[in-house]
Amino acid sequence: MKHGASPMNVDLAAARRYIAGGVDSPVRAGRPVGQPSPFIVSARGSHVTDVAGRTYVDFLCAYGPIILGHGNAIIAQAVAAAARDGAVVGTTHPEEVRLAERICRRFGSMERVRFVSTGTEACMSAIRLARGFTRKEKFIRFSGCYHGHSDEMIFAAGASSLSTAAIECGVTAATAADVFVLPYNDVAALESALRRHGSAVAAAIVEPVCANMGLCLPLPGYLEAVRALTRAHGALLIFDEVITGFRLGADGAQGEFAVRPDLTCLGKALGGGLPIAAFGGRADIMDALAPQGQVFAGGTFSGNPVCVAAAHAFLDQLEADAGFFARLDRQAKRLASGLAEAIEKAGFALPVVQCASMVDFMFRTRPPHRNYSEASQAEASAYARYYRGMLERGILLPPSQMELMFLTAEHDDADIDAASRAARDVMAALAAEPRKRAGHG
Ligand SMILES: Cc1ncc(COP(=O)(O)O)c(C=O)c1O
Repeated sequence: MKHGASPMNVDLAAARRYIAGGVDSPVRAGRPVGQPSPFIVSARGSHVTDVAGRTYVDFLCAYGPIILGHGNAIIAQAVAAAARDGAVVGTTHPEEVRLAERICRRFGSMERVRFVSTGTEACMSAIRLARGFTRKEKFIRFSGCYHGHSDEMIFAAGASSLSTAAIECGVTAATAADVFVLPYNDVAALESALRRHGSAVAAAIVEPVCANMGLCLPLPGYLEAVRALTRAHGALLIFDEVITGFRLGADGAQGEFAVRPDLTCLGKALGGGLPIAAFGGRADIMDALAPQGQVFAGGTFSGNPVCVAAAHAFLDQLEADAGFFARLDRQAKRLASGLAEAIEKAGFALPVVQCASMVDFMFRTRPPHRNYSEASQAEASAYARYYRGMLERGILLPPSQMELMFLTAEHDDADIDAASRAARDVMAALAAEPRKRAGHG
């Protein structure tokens, strides 16, 4: 092979020759765990196989999009058929309209929708739309929530934004000055910011269940308070449901918590593994988008037939399976209790958190963290050793403690019990280390 990087022996060093940093997303370099994520050549069901032929039970699940399992045959078939009929046509097509209708029926708060390709675009466009609609310039975010890599979203965000120590590099001070970043789960902080700046605030954007500082649940009444306060100050409420939209039941976190946002961002699982995302909400707000209104948002690949076909194939399967979410919830509870048992048996006091098909714990003592500053207290080196121990035992985890474990419909009892067994071994090994015991005091 020309440059010594045949598909079967490629590693991070070889990848760096032609891909900046060897990765297309910095978190994949695995800095927090001291090694890159394995280079995966194939993925089926709940398993992935790397270049060396090792197979792992996958709990990374591509950071969330994979919920039916890898290599879903119905999605693959739909994608192949759509690609044959013209992968991208540059006009509106009937299946795109049908998908929009399906999404609006599913999410009562979404009266109209726009398709884009990524969650980043969905959140970025929702913010611009909120500004155009309200004619106000500032907006509120919450630290530890991640809304993609656009300039105004990236600093003080959780998850992969931690891949660099100088996240503000390349973002202008003027952009940063337009954003108020507040602690999550803190009603008083929001109240005070809106009291002082409400007349300039176009919107607040929040992950209703935050999946980017580990798994962080909203405290009882928090989302309701965010709803009431934004409304009282004439600011729109944007729910970033890029992760939760198709993981928390039929209509995402907004259904689960019965809180109705003005705008919603969707992505990840919507495309069954293909890049499609959406933002949508109240008709009067969405009508401020050009050509009807004045706010611009567009994209060559927005609503393309291949990704739209994948989304239909995903929704077809979801909607045909009445027990889908209940089954995933049961599996996630099984995993959470397996991990909790492993942790307890080793003498640690680390809280395991589960919400729908998401499971997580951090190396910090109970109770579960409520915000980014508490999440940031977690012991990074203990997680790194845990990650590597799990990998050696055939379990693929996210390479950062700020991410979490995702389950798919293909994870069976054997997969989950394998993870719990591996966790028992690794936790016991961590407990036996002659250093300060992780998670204690
Ligand atoms: C809640 C949330 N919003 C937005 C995004 C950005 O989505 P994308 O990576 O598709 O641009 C992510 C990605 O992890 C996310 O978790």
